[in-house]
Amino acid sequence: MTTIVAKHGNFPSNVTANNEWAPLRSVIIGRADNSCFPYEAPHMIEATMPPRFHEAFKPANPFPPEIVRGAEEELGNFALLLQSQGVNVFRPAKVDWLQTGGYTGAMPRDGLLVVGNTIIESCFAWKCRVDEVANSLGNLLSKLGANPSVKVVRAPRPPSPDTLYNGILEDPGSHEWAINNSRPAFDAADFMRFGSTIIGQLSNVTNMKGVEYIQLHVPSGYKIELLDVNDPHAMHIDATLLPLRQGLMVYNPLRVTEESLRRHAAFKDWELVSYPFVKSVQAVEEATGGVPRFMTSAWLVMNVLVLGHDKIVVEEQDHEFVKWLEGRGMEVLKAPFRNVHAIGGSFHCASVDLVRS
Ligand code: NVA
Repeated sequence: MTTIVAKHGNFPSNVTANNEWAPLRSVIIGRADNSCFPYEAPHMIEATMPPRFHEAFKPANPFPPEIVRGAEEELGNFALLLQSQGVNVFRPAKVDWLQTGGYTGAMPRDGLLVVGNTIIESCFAWKCRVDEVANSLGNLLSKLGANPSVKVVRAPRPPSPDTLYNGILEDPGSHEWAINNSRPAFDAADFMRFGSTIIGQLSNVTNMKGVEYIQLHVPSGYKIELLDVNDPHAMHIDATLLPLRQGLMVYNPLRVTEESLRRHAAFKDWELVSYPFVKSVQAVEEATGGVPRFMTSAWLVMNVLVLGHDKIVVEEQDHEFVKWLEGRGMEVLKAPFRNVHAIGGSFHCASVDLVRS
């Protein structure tokens, strides 16, 4: 049997992305090889990960090999699917995460925030992720940054010892987060682009200094606004909001209200639709052959990738959602992704838009 491997994207590549729905021209698709359970302070795992799997989050604990193999196959397939749609695809380097003490290369969305022509590397809160971008995407960032029109902002090293976990932070919304505000911390996946407004959330991995840091580095004219999200386990906004096209967004009704969204001028005149099917994570696992969701909720169904021109990539088993999207005039491309789901995310998490035009 011949395995077809996606060709690496062509350089020089420019970078420009102002929203989540304009036609996708160039993208990074993650790599699952050698992924290991992340190892973090117990209170962070308790705050963000499903209780039934807490004990798996220990040092040097690779994800089950059949899941990693399956996930790598699914990511390769996703890369080919995007190439068949005319998208230029880049892949991270292969890293031995067991040896580096890291987590994965499969979730690049967490590590890179693209705003306009600027790529901002996350100031990760999780210690096991601090070298993730350097190890898996460092070469790619150097090549992209060689284009004078592209600005790459690499993250500073966190202080040693890191102070982030020395006492938790209480925000004005009265959530207690697993980190304090002693240094900038953010995961890029806590932010989404809506033109010149970037909508973000404070979370167990993103603090106010992180938000200020991003505001400092985005090109002029872009402004970050924080959404009021009701989720004490918050970590990544991309299972809470799903813009399908200019003027139409699906939102997670357990985490945000239409009223809180309407406070943001970016959504003026938008149709805001509450995601209509709420399921337990167990029901989702059963429907997808029993592959465990080690790290995420059932809301991962919303973590899909819009290709522009009303086209979207959705997990092949999400039948109800596919039908619903088609009823909304979307063309749905279905792809298998259940093993990628097991290691922490879906199509949105597993990609980074470099060019949307
Ligand atoms: N942590 C969130 C977002 C995942 C993309 C969840 O599990 O719903």
